[in-house]
Amino acid sequence: MSTPNNKLTTSWGAPVGDNQNSMTAGSRGPTLIQDVHLLEKLAHFNRERVPERVVHAKGAGAHGYFEVTNDLSLYTKAAFLSEVGKRTPMFIRFSTVAGELGSADTVRDPRGFAVKFYTEEGNYDLVGNNTPVFFIRDAIKFPDFIHTQKRHPQTHLKNPNAIWDFWSLSPESLHQVTILMSDRGIPATLRHMNGYGSHTFKWVNAQGEGVWVKYHFKTDQGVKNLDVDLAAKLAGDNPDYHTEDLFNAIDKGDHPSWTLYVQIMPIADANTYRFDPFDVTKVWSQKDYPLIEVGKMVLNRNPENYFAEVEQATFSPGSFVPGIEASPDKMLQGRLFAYSDAHRYRVGANHNSLPINRPHSEVNHYQRDGAMRSDNNGGGSVYYEPNSYGGPTQSPQYKTAAYEVSGEADSVAYDHDDHYTQAGDLYRLLSEEERTRLVQNVVGAMKPVEKDEIKLRQIGHFYKADPEYGERVAQGLGLAVPQGV
Ligand code: HEM
Repeated sequence: MSTPNNKLTTSWGAPVGDNQNSMTAGSRGPTLIQDVHLLEKLAHFNRERVPERVVHAKGAGAHGYFEVTNDLSLYTKAAFLSEVGKRTPMFIRFSTVAGELGSADTVRDPRGFAVKFYTEEGNYDLVGNNTPVFFIRDAIKFPDFIHTQKRHPQTHLKNPNAIWDFWSLSPESLHQVTILMSDRGIPATLRHMNGYGSHTFKWVNAQGEGVWVKYHFKTDQGVKNLDVDLAAKLAGDNPDYHTEDLFNAIDKGDHPSWTLYVQIMPIADANTYRFDPFDVTKVWSQKDYPLIEVGKMVLNRNPENYFAEVEQATFSPGSFVPGIEASPDKMLQGRLFAYSDAHRYRVGANHNSLPINRPHSEVNHYQRDGAMRSDNNGGGSVYYEPNSYGGPTQSPQYKTAAYEVSGEADSVAYDHDDHYTQAGDLYRLLSEEERTRLVQNVVGAMKPVEKDEIKLRQIGHFYKADPEYGERVAQGLGLAVPQGV
């Protein structure tokens, strides 16, 4: 028997008399359009999906907290980092990059590592990956790059030809390609991988002094990766293996954690460092800029509802809080536009007022209306600025720190074009077994490429990183390193 608390209603709140049988003209007659409950059920069902993310569509999320373990207020005035022991609630979404919403978890792909800190001064989103670098370093190349990772327009198949054509013509990708093809390309679980902000960001302290920073989340579970054969088997047997592992670990109280470190570079060093520190295809040497501990992130609560919390979550690299700012990194600059634009399209103009995205701090602005505005829309309060009615006003102490720019407006390449040293250093760091697996993975991935021209061009890049790397890939593909590389 139903009680008043669990009475089934329509979405307009009226009690439903029958939820099992459509209304028909006679017991065998056609269904009546008068059955508005049926119409509403079918119509709402047709609208259950929002567009999947154009990249990073498959993901898993969890709630947790971030706790400061080291006072770095010397470098940043960010309130949530202001004192040891301070805790900030956060939400994380892990993802693969290229696959669709239902694709397998255990594929070779970078993993997204998107963190939302609900700070007292608004939301801070750190939208990184499990790799410290990226394939390209200018936002203008991103749509082309992603086209090569997605499906061929005619066959609707993944296309190794496009992937290696693009990479071989974009040698700045070599460092990230080497990481991707190494053991780290398939993490054992989402709990056993590191996370990185990847880009360079700026921290500003209470005196207005800045430093450049890079973020490193080191997994406290230790880095573990999957054997390729097991990964392939799991992709068939349990395509949601990583999603399930994360949910179950948290569910049974085995709460994964990461220690956050930063590298800090004095502002002036950026002009003299041996490469452009805003180039996201490079890592900064930890000898030059050692890791400094910041705090611990702990995941301790599963989402109650996947769609409401994980699918509707919107992370933007442009969601900064006072004390944390952008750098001139050309990829980051492009991302400052791309994410909020995606959110307005994918979730709607009012995506920030959904419970998962809503700041835990007070929100006061003059934005009004828009589709699915679900709060009181500012009620009758003043709706323009400047005004004489005591509406919210700016706080000059929170202005972005001023910085100098100079030069001609032009489309220019990064002036330091060494794509090979860091990729080669990484190769040389690997053990013999790790190199063998790396080469096997590269050879396996490149074999289906149709054109030898593409394979040879890419072999040339591997060779320039380290002659042995190039020679072993060439041998595996039954080719020779091209002359004059
Ligand atoms: C998701 C664009 C580079 C990490 C997305 C989305 C877009 C996008 C449009 C979907 C957003 C949504 O629908 O909510 C771009 C562009 C880039 C770029 C234009 C280069 C200019 C990067 C880089 C990283 C990264 C360098 C990591 C360092 C992520 C992550 C997500 C994502 C983690 C998933 C966020 C989530 O879980 O909701 N990107 N991206 N992207 N991107 Fe990028």
